[in-house]
Amino acid sequence: MLNSVERQIIHYIKDLNEPEILNLYNKLAKGKRLRAKLILKIAGNSLRVIKTASIVEMIHGASLLHDDVIDDSDMRRNRPSINSIYGNKTAIMFGDILYSKGFYELNDIDKRVSKVISNAVVQLSLGELADVSLSEEFNTDRDRYLKMIYQKTASLIEASAESASILAGKDSIPYKIYGRNLGLAFQMIDDILDITVDSQTLGKPAMHDFFEGKTTLPYIYLYKELDTDDKNRLKSLHSKRLNTKDEAWIKLKMKEYKIIEYSYNEAKKLIDEAISLMENAGEFALSAIAKEMIERDF
Ligand code: IPE
Ligand code: IPE
Ligand code: MG
Ligand code: MG
Ligand code: MG
Repeated sequence: MLNSVERQIIHYIKDLNEPEILNLYNKLAKGKRLRAKLILKIAGNSLRVIKTASIVEMIHGASLLHDDVIDDSDMRRNRPSINSIYGNKTAIMFGDILYSKGFYELNDIDKRVSKVISNAVVQLSLGELADVSLSEEFNTDRDRYLKMIYQKTASLIEASAESASILAGKDSIPYKIYGRNLGLAFQMIDDILDITVDSQTLGKPAMHDFFEGKTTLPYIYLYKELDTDDKNRLKSLHSKRLNTKDEAWIKLKMKEYKIIEYSYNEAKKLIDEAISLMENAGEFALSAIAKEMIERDF
């Protein structure tokens, strides 16, 4: 059924009647399509469900185009990012086109779904902005980190699950909680993988977050554990291009204090809650998605 989503997206892109945009779209690899999968698993495969899943993936794609400009990232989905090939101006405008075409098409689906998704995109944008502000200093506040990742990542995943439950006429509450937990855990794992996995496996730059000023969950936990001298050393490396020695030191200290396990368990708790909610609802395909998500390495 994901094939129908790919076809629907191409249909929306061709509708724009601009060969340049089709060419740009063809430069984007597809990604894991997590949000589309969730929608289809919750709501089936009627045309309006396929359309909703396609719109959400276009919106998500737009957020990644902008995110790579914000994070100065030259690789996405194992290919050179659009900003690295064509520059920031093209990446921003292509992002705007995907966003606006998505919102335009959303009007034809259902008013409640349209509100849920567009509100999530407001949250996503607030979250991306908060991510930028937080990375200007060495943030050690876990609550600010959690709020920011809820906004930038969990909100759209939560909205995908909620929208699908609305389209399916199911009680939204468990699906919303499932989406929220899955989304929070998803970003926590993404932040862990930035440290533990190489860029070829990730399909995007590795060890890039700290250089961009982001003190993600593992850095927040590590900072808490370090003694004063090491706290100062970690702070002095913030936003700097790390040499091999400093990178190895960070990883060694994380190992010493079991920071990755600790951060992973934080994500695992959220996932376990999501799994039991879906198992109670008899939604085994959705609990399986949550299990796979936590075990992923890209
Ligand atoms: C990447 O999202 C951005 C984050 C929220 C971490 P995905 O990891 O879902 O990206 P694709 O669509 O599979 O490439
Ligand atoms: C971005 O988070 C999440 C979005 C909502 C776009 P990241 O900046 O960590 O995503 P990646 O690692 O570049 O995919
Ligand atoms: Mg990024
Ligand atoms: Mg980012
Ligand atoms: Mg990331």
